[in-house]
Amino acid sequence: MALQLGDEAPDFTADTTEGKIQFHNWIGNGWAVLFSHPKDFTPVCTTELGRVAQLKPEFDKRGVKVIGLSVDPLGSHKEWSKDIQDVTGSSPNFPLIADSDRKVASLYNMIHPNANDTLTVRSVFVIGPDKKIKLTLTYPASTGRNFDELLRVIDSLQLTAKHKVATPSDWKHGQDVIIVPSLSDDDAKKQFPAGWKTLKPYLRVVSQPK
Ligand code: BEZ
Repeated sequence: MALQLGDEAPDFTADTTEGKIQFHNWIGNGWAVLFSHPKDFTPVCTTELGRVAQLKPEFDKRGVKVIGLSVDPLGSHKEWSKDIQDVTGSSPNFPLIADSDRKVASLYNMIHPNANDTLTVRSVFVIGPDKKIKLTLTYPASTGRNFDELLRVIDSLQLTAKHKVATPSDWKHGQDVIIVPSLSDDDAKKQFPAGWKTLKPYLRVVSQPK
C-alpha cells in the first residue's frame, strides 16, 4: 500500500554521493526532504537539482536536510553533477542516493508502472523529526517541481506542528493564520491573548505566532 501521511518513513541504508547512510540516523533530530527524479542526464531533472542546490541555504535555515534519489549508479550521479554545475551554476550540495537496485524506490512506491515501469516519478516526502511523513507530492516526469512552493509548505508544516493554527490558501510566512476549529474560544484566549478576528464562528484569523 502507498505510504500515507502520518506513516513512519521507512528506514534504509543506501550509497549516496556523500557516502553510505542509514536514513533515520542521517535525518537526526531535524526535518528531511527525500525526493526522487526519473533519470540522470535528463533536462528537467538537471534544472531541478540545480535549483535545489541554490535553495540549500533556505532548507538549512529551516533545519531541513535534503536528499535526492534516482535509479542510476553513483558514477553517473557524480558525472552528471558537472553538467548541473555547467547549466545552472550550482552543483548538488546535498547527497544523491544511487538506487540501482530500486530498493528505496520500492519502499517509497516511487515507481508508478502505468507511467513508466523502470524510472522513478518525481516524488517528494517531507519527514518530521519524529520520522513520520508530513507531506507527499507526486509529479510526472514532464513537469519540474516548484521548490519555492516546497519551502512554503515546510513553513506551514513547521508552524502548525508548534501552534494550534492552520494556514489558509496561498499563505506565506509572516501572514495571518487560522485558529484550529478544535480550540475553544476560552482556550484560544489563553494562547492568543492579543485576540483574533472572527469572520465566521469556525473561521478565526490571528497574527502568525512567533
Ligand atoms: C527530464 O528530466 O527532462 C525527463 C526525465 C524523464 C522523462 C522525461 C523527462
